[in-house]
Amino acid sequence: MEVTNVMEYEAIAKQKLPKMVFDYYASGAEDQWTLAENRNAFSRILFRPRILIDVSRIDMTTTVLGFKISMPIMIAPSAMQKMAHPEGELATARAASAAGTIMTLSSWATSSVEEVASTGPGIRFFQLYVYKDRNVVAQLVRRAERAGFKAIALTVDTPRLGRREADIKNRFVLPPYLTLKNFEGLNLGKMDQANDSGLASYVAGQIDRTLSWKDVQWLQTITKLPILVKGVITAEDTRLAIQAGAAGIIVSNHGARQLDYVPATIMALEEVVKAAQGRIPVFLDGGVRRGTDVFKALALGAAGIFIGRPVLFSLAAEGEAGVRKVLQMLREEFELTMALSGCTSLKEITRDHVTTDWDLPRTHPRPLPRL
Ligand code: GLV
Repeated sequence: MEVTNVMEYEAIAKQKLPKMVFDYYASGAEDQWTLAENRNAFSRILFRPRILIDVSRIDMTTTVLGFKISMPIMIAPSAMQKMAHPEGELATARAASAAGTIMTLSSWATSSVEEVASTGPGIRFFQLYVYKDRNVVAQLVRRAERAGFKAIALTVDTPRLGRREADIKNRFVLPPYLTLKNFEGLNLGKMDQANDSGLASYVAGQIDRTLSWKDVQWLQTITKLPILVKGVITAEDTRLAIQAGAAGIIVSNHGARQLDYVPATIMALEEVVKAAQGRIPVFLDGGVRRGTDVFKALALGAAGIFIGRPVLFSLAAEGEAGVRKVLQMLREEFELTMALSGCTSLKEITRDHVTTDWDLPRTHPRPLPRL
């Protein structure tokens, strides 16, 4: 059956993958309220399209941290991609560079920064988890720099792993034939079986719960790479991120895998954009499955978006070709949305092209006066 939209890959992946793997990729935390909300919230934003504008030529190119890319659709870090397909992150890297966009490699990739670099040219960011052993972090950041990665996306929402009940039930663990390749030489590449989630135990053992804003400054003493703070969803933290020297913010709730009942990222976006006051770019991930979603995020002030699960599911279904197809489908849908909204370049996408239910005047009926 022909795949005609990004979402259709999920069912194919579910059929193909072992249950433990599919559940790990697909699940959110606890009640999975935020997981559904990340998608649902997009449907509360409607278009105010402009008509009779010449849309025969549409330019979707943009610049992110000084790097020119073909479209504002980038690849989010997602862990352990060789569980989805034998070529894992290498296939994702090739698909991203063929599409002229940025791939973010997870710290917990099953391919190393060097292996990903060896797939060929491409603009790549490195997602960083801060380990208790800071020598591990310093070495890894240095390796990412040497391998030509262009920015660090520092995950700040994971002092402990969220409670993902499917992983607890499945006793999730990295399959023994794979390793967290970036940590192989550091004896941190394996994940022990636990009597709940093996990943939650790994995080509890290795990841630094003391991480704080001063560490964002510390990171700048060990690298010249720009730092994107990934996991900000409030105005308060936006201001702190700017003070701490962040080069950008990724509005993210970690694919709804950490704290449940945080708002959908598309709902949190404007608060962050307003607090950033144009001083640094604001990006978004979480629930983007349509070109219309990309447009809505840009209309609310995002400089670009990242996709996570669609990459994993298409990788599982069709390897590199699947990821290419996902990027191509989103590109075409986004181009069509621009055309039908009357926008020929990204700078023409404005807040006035959308209306949200929080824009509406409050019309709570007042109680009628008693006669
Ligand atoms: C990894 O970052 C995960 O959320 O499982």
